[in-house]
Formats: sequence, C-alpha cells, structure tokens
Amino acid sequence: MEKDKGSGYPAPSLKGRKRVKPIQFTLLLLAVFSYSLTYLLWPSARTETLPINAAAIVAQCRALHLTPGPPDNFHSRTESDRFQEGTKPTLIRNATIWTGLDNGNEVIRGDILIDKGLIKKVGSVDESVLRSYADVVVLDAAGSWVSPGVVDMHSHIGVMSAPYLQGAYDTNSYKGLVQPWLRSFDGLNTHDEAYQWAISGGVTSGQAFVIKLRPTAERSSSAMLLEPPFSLNGTYIDPAQRPGWRQMKHACGENPSRAYSGTRMDTQWAFRQGYNTARKIKEKQDAYCAKALAGEWKDLGDFPEDLQWEALVDVLCSRVKVHNHCHEAVDLDAMVRLTNEFKFSIAAFHHADEAYMVPNLIKKAYVHPPAVAIFATSARYRREGYRTSEFAPRILADNGLDVVMKSDHPVLNSRYLIYEAQQAHYFGLPVNLALASVTSTPARVMGQDHRIGRIIEGFDADVVVWDSHPLALGAAPKQVFIDGIAQLEKPYTSVKPISAQHAPVTPNFDKEVADAIEYEGLPPLEPETVKPAVIVFRNVGRIFLKDPATRRVREVFTSASAEWVVVVENGRIVCNGTQIACPAALSQTRHLDLQGGSISPGLVSYGSPLGLTHIPGEVSTSDGPVFDPIGLQVPSIIDGTVISAVDGLLFGTRDALLAYRNGVTSAVTAPTSSGFLAGLSTVFSTSAAHKLADGAVIQEVSALHMRLSLSSAISVSTQIAALRELLLAEGEGQGQLGRRFTEVAAGKILLVIDVDSADIIASLIALKKQVEAAKGTIIRLTLAGAAEAHLLAKEIGNAGVGVLIEQRPYPPRWEQKRLLPGPPLTQSTAITTLVSHHTAQNKVSTWVETEAERARDFCHWSGKCRDQWQKSRVFLPVFLPK
Ligand SMILES: *[C@@H]1O[C@H](CO)[C@@H](O)[C@H](O)[C@H]1NC(C)=O
Ligand SMILES: *[C@@H]1O[C@H](CO)[C@@H](O)[C@H](O)[C@H]1NC(C)=O
Ligand SMILES: *[C@@H]1O[C@H](CO)[C@@H](O)[C@H](O)[C@H]1NC(C)=O
Repeated sequence: MEKDKGSGYPAPSLKGRKRVKPIQFTLLLLAVFSYSLTYLLWPSARTETLPINAAAIVAQCRALHLTPGPPDNFHSRTESDRFQEGTKPTLIRNATIWTGLDNGNEVIRGDILIDKGLIKKVGSVDESVLRSYADVVVLDAAGSWVSPGVVDMHSHIGVMSAPYLQGAYDTNSYKGLVQPWLRSFDGLNTHDEAYQWAISGGVTSGQAFVIKLRPTAERSSSAMLLEPPFSLNGTYIDPAQRPGWRQMKHACGENPSRAYSGTRMDTQWAFRQGYNTARKIKEKQDAYCAKALAGEWKDLGDFPEDLQWEALVDVLCSRVKVHNHCHEAVDLDAMVRLTNEFKFSIAAFHHADEAYMVPNLIKKAYVHPPAVAIFATSARYRREGYRTSEFAPRILADNGLDVVMKSDHPVLNSRYLIYEAQQAHYFGLPVNLALASVTSTPARVMGQDHRIGRIIEGFDADVVVWDSHPLALGAAPKQVFIDGIAQLEKPYTSVKPISAQHAPVTPNFDKEVADAIEYEGLPPLEPETVKPAVIVFRNVGRIFLKDPATRRVREVFTSASAEWVVVVENGRIVCNGTQIACPAALSQTRHLDLQGGSISPGLVSYGSPLGLTHIPGEVSTSDGPVFDPIGLQVPSIIDGTVISAVDGLLFGTRDALLAYRNGVTSAVTAPTSSGFLAGLSTVFSTSAAHKLADGAVIQEVSALHMRLSLSSAISVSTQIAALRELLLAEGEGQGQLGRRFTEVAAGKILLVIDVDSADIIASLIALKKQVEAAKGTIIRLTLAGAAEAHLLAKEIGNAGVGVLIEQRPYPPRWEQKRLLPGPPLTQSTAITTLVSHHTAQNKVSTWVETEAERARDFCHWSGKCRDQWQKSRVFLPVFLPK
C-alpha cells in the first residue's frame, strides 16, 4: 500500500461541522470547481471574519496534498504539448517492437504510426487509416528492433557540458551542504554538444529536471523540459491544477564529506536539520490549513511558507521524486533511517554500490523501496565503490527491487547507456528487465510513465529504430524520434550479422552471484594453475593467432564441426582437429567445452593505470603521480631522472585480476602523470602474484611516454620547444633524461605521446621530420588518445606513426572536439579512416613482442578464464605501429 498517495486530507464533511456557515459552504464548493470564479463571486459574499483571500487559501490548502501526476484528461490528448508545428506524420513499417508492456516481455511485429508528437497506433496500420493522414513519411524498418527512447535517469548533461569549459560549469554549488532551493535547470546549457552524441545512442530524456534532448524551435532551456514542474513559474502556482512531479537530488558519503571538509556525521546532521526546518513549516501549514478548512478564520494570518524551503516541504508532502546518491551500506542505512524519521520516500538510490548486499535494508525505506540506479561495471575508482559487483543488477532484480542503469554523464558517455544495459544483461539481468532498466523503469521511477518509457498509443513519440537487438554488443540506432521528429538527418548504418538480431545468450553465473554475496563483493579472484600441463578445448568455433610475418592477429581457423578439439601443452597448441586426429585429447582429464567459442592470444590493455593502483581515488593505495619537469619544481635528487613504471608496479589488484579473468593477460602501463613527461612504461602479467614471480614482468621498459595538451598550464609552443631541445641535443644528451631522448631520436626506443589536437599532431609530425633530417635516423612514434588524428590520417600514415585510439570516443576537452563519432552520425570512425591510410612502406617496429608474451598466449585461457565471455566479446581493433 502506498501511504503517500492521495490527498491525505479528509474532505470537509458538512454534516459534522456545526460551525460551517452557509457562506463558507459556497466557498468550499467553488474552491473545488473554479478558483477564479470564486474570486469574482467573493466580494458580494464577504463578511467581517473572512480574509479577502480566503478562497485562495482554501484552494492552496487543498492543493497541498494533491498527488502529483498528469492532468485527469491527459490520456485523451490528441496532440502533444511538445508537438512542433510542421512535423509530418511518420509510419515505421515492419518493425520488431519492444513495447515495455507485460513487464517488458511484450514484442510486437508490426507498424508504428506517429503524428502530432504522439504514438497514434501500434500494430498493423491499414490503408484506410493511413489515407486520413496527409504526407505520411514511411520508414521501412525491414524487421529492425524498435524500442522506446532511452531514458538516462542520472546525467549531468547540459550542466557539465562538452567540451568542458570553465564558463559552462553548472554542476555543483559549493555554497552549502543542504540547498534544496537550487535548480539545476537555471544552468541548463542549450548548446551542450553532448545532446547530439547522446541522441545518436538513442537517449532521449534525462533527470533532476526531466528534459528531452532534441533542439527546440524556441531554442530555450525551458522548451527542453519534458513537463515544466508546477513550481517553475515562481511563487504563484495555480492550486486547481494537479501538480506534475518534481525531482530532487540528495547525496551522502564521500562527495559531500570531501566538498565540505566534513564527515558522514556532518552530512547526516545537515540533512536532519534541513528536514527539521521543513517539517516545522509543514506542521504550521497543516495546523493552519486544518483551521482554514474548518472555517476558523479568526486571527489566522498569512499562510506559513518560506520560498527557500518550499521544495523540501514538498518532499514531505510526497510531491517530489527524491534521487539519492549513496554508495555504501552505512550511507544507505542512514538515509533509510532519515526517511522513517521525517516520513518521506526516496524514488531511487543512485550509485548504491552496496545495495545488492542489503536488499532488506532498502525495503525498510519509508512507504516503498527505492529503485537502485547503478553502473554495470564502472567500479573501484573510489573506496565507496570497492565492493561493487557486476552481478548487482541481477541480485537486486532477484530481490524484487527496481533496477535502473545510468550514465552519470559525463562520467560515462550517455551515448552508450545501452551498453550498460547490455553488460547488466551479460552478467545475469534478464532481457525484459535489462531493456526496462533504461526505458520503462526510469520513466516510472521519475513519475513520467504516463508519457515516456514505453511504446503505447497516446504516449510521446520517442522511439529508437536499432541496427540489431538493443542488447547485442555494439547496437546503434538507425533512427531516433523525439516528439515524432526524426533526429538523425542522414543516419549512417552498418549491417549487422543475423546473430545480432537476438539478445545474446549469456553464461550461467550462479556461482559468481553466490560468491559476490558471500564475500561481500570481494570474492577471491586469484587464478588457478592448471595441472596437468595439458588441457583440451572441445567444441572450438574459431582460432585467432598472431601472424609471425605481419605480427597481426588474424583468424586462422573456423570450425565446420562441433567436435573440433584443440590440445594445448605448456601454453602451445600441439594438436587441433577432430577427436580422431588428436588422440591425445582422449587420454587427458582436463577438458573445457567452449560451446563454439574461440581461442585467441591474450588481450593487451593500454591506457589505464592498471598495475599502479588499487583504488585511484585513494592516495595510499596507488603508486601516485610523477613530478612534471616543466610544470613543477622537481626535487634535486631526481632532477633529470626518468621514472620507470616497473618500479612502482602493484600486483594482485582486483582490477588486474578481473581483467585477467576477462581475457586481458598483460598490460602496458606508463607512470601516472597529467604533465609533460610521464616516463618509461612496462609490460606485466595481470595474473602474477608479485614482481619476482615467473613471467610477472614481461618487458621491463617498453616505451617513453609524454603528453602534449592545450589544457596544460604551460603553452603548447613551450611544450613543443622542450621536446625539440631534447630530441636535437648533441651527443649523448644531458643526464638520464638526455640519454633517453637520444635513444628516442635514434629510433632505439618507442616514443608514445598522449595527444588529441590535430594541430599539435601536425607540429609533432613536422618535428619528427626535422629531427630525422638532422640526425639521419627514423624516430618510432605512437600517438595515444589521438581524438583528432583522423584529420591527418594521410600524413600520419606517410610519417609511419602509430596510433592508439579509443573505441568509444567522447570530447570532454576542446582539443578533442573534432573527433569522428562513427555510425549513425558519420559513416567512418577514426579507426577505419586511419587503417585505410596505414601504408605498407611504414617500417615502425612493433609494440611488444617477447618470448614471454607468446608463451602465455594460451595457458591463460584455461583455469578460471570464461569461455562464454570470449564468445560474446568483440575484438577491439587496436591500431598498433608495425
Ligand atoms: C519484414 O521484414 C522482414 C525482414 O526484412 C522481411 O522478411 C518481411 O518480408 C517483411 N515483411 C513485410 C510485410 O514487409
Ligand atoms: C508559466 O507561465 C506562462 C506564462 O504565464 C504560461 O504560459 C505557462 O503555461 C506557465 N507554466 C506552468 C508550468 O504553469
Ligand atoms: C591445426 O592443425 C593443422 C593440421 O595439423 C596445422 O596445419 C595447423 O597449423 C594447426 N593450427 C594451429 C593453430 O595450430
């Protein structure tokens, strides 16, 4: 039962109220039916004891406890309030429609007719109906999946804009711990470039203020609001209107503690103090209204209210969806207690890394259990998230709690919110709930499920046409409609295999789920050593190997038979074929059924601090940053020293062990730096117990790393000049630093530069030529990050420069603005563009190639490695220097 539904106020009963005068009777009826009419009639009926605004007060009092929601006649609307004049009706023909109905289990094969910003018909639309619509635009979906617009319930889009510029930061106010009077909407940037990115991923709406992401005819922030909350027009609210839901954000744990140099105790006291203030106002209002509604006007005075606290009073009146950023059990517990102390409910706990451990605690929250809005795997970046489990979505769902996947954009790129649902599904969240977690569930949790989140006749026409099943890895929209308006002018689509038209089959993770709960998020991850040294893989679908000539990984074998076996001995394939061809297979006891999965070399990680930190947000768990030689005063004892990552390696971190479990057997890690010179990277095994273990360090020094950026405090021209000085130095160069750069100039060691701007890349290519001409050498250079590299694909190819690029790029910085987003926004991606210019004459030697690495290619797939996972993983095309 929902205690906070309904008015909560008894309708004044006329029979029992002796003191009600006839005049008041009129007033009450009028207050219900027409607020303005009451005003007109009032003067003639006025008496001494009644204040002039009595009607307004009564209306206000009655309105206080109205349940928010759509107006009563909402579902008979024939045109959306958000309809944009001139938008033509659209018919999406022959679609596979996930409607969101029947708990997310309903799929309809048919058409969707859209007009006036609304979904007019779902199912089969016949010609007679169509004839009544002029100018219908027809989109033949040819069986494609169609879902409701994706709803991102936790996003800072518009208030933490891309690219990040100081002048457009409107995310957090640091002027107090409890500030319920602030409105994120007042900072909503209409020019955030991320809107377009997010739309291209199918996202149509976001939170705190619920907005739609499309550009509007009015070009204002206000026009972006899904439903302007009743409070937006300031202090003067029409009490006769049923209010729409408001949304409010709370936060506990490390964020407020850090921002206000306080503790959890301070934050919780601030909450109690704030709610106590609101409660006192509410109690005064209730007492006041009890009298007003009973006609006791004598000395009643003004309606007690305070603009600063009205939003929190509204929370206590159950008119606000409260969204609570809270990670740990300790914080969830404090908030649950707070809801029961002050009697308000929470719509959702966000982040809530430990919610899966305490489902019964969540259920103790006032009135109803909050939904839980989480990331799929983004974890351990701070202490509060150290015990997160990738199985949390499933565990929460198993406990009957609502699961929402969220981006916290730009923490994760809102464009890939569907990827969060895909991962949640992979780790056990059923298909219906995984799709609901980014559509119908967040819409319901925000009180907007009367118009968004499902495909129902009369709902807002927010729909996404996908190029595959939305839960298949890499799913991308072919078209996105918001309010019936097609958002992609010229969408580029890629053809997906038939297998991608079904939700992926996922592994049975029952044991992992039980372990996650038993070990409170920290199940043992250490790999097993395989004994005996021979292992037989059965039912092998494909084999990928590194070609020794080109040093590229390629598919060398595709099985035609279900009974293909591969026998691996001491990390090497000794036989592959049918059981008969490999008799050794029969005598072995250690068998692994790959169920048609594949065998490949271990994956290599680059670009993360893997192996240098347990929890990036905790100084004492990390190797830490190096001194920046051109930004900081370097202590004399290490001035001129080049730092080596191998000296700071930390083994057995949970991230390394999880990476290993998921096929990443080695990692290239450079010293941590956001400055000019990082130092020497190393290659290590993600599974080794310690540095001295056999094969732990695969290659002590792999490359020299630096970063050139517009966001440095030092000018780009100074950074280039410093690099030129180092590379052109005569003889052996000064000290260790000089010697290392002499090696770089001579092509003896690879130089990796973190760089995004095409302009800086151009300067680097020119500098490379200059040094090579002066020294008669070939410099081995790799660009990492390289968001804008595609603009110079030809020049980079001709210069023989390698590129390490992100698979899912996003431009937080200005110097990344011109990146190539890929389908559906552009036909090519940076990767396809660069690969097409990677000419054969480039003679740049390879990144990592050691005996140790080759030896471990296969042995690591045994033990704890999950074969099914490999089956559903895509191989990220990494563009390595040859
Ligand atoms: C719908 O699309 C599928 C897949 O392209 C196709 O096989 C089928 O014939 C189409 N049906 C209609 C009615 O066009
Ligand atoms: C706010 O006021 C404007 C102008 O009076 C009106 O058009 C609009 O509908 C109002 N909005 C709400 C949410 O009441
Ligand atoms: C598989 O077996 C065939 C035939 O013996 C052999 O030529 C091939 O090299 C083997 N492939 C691998 C990956 O070992």
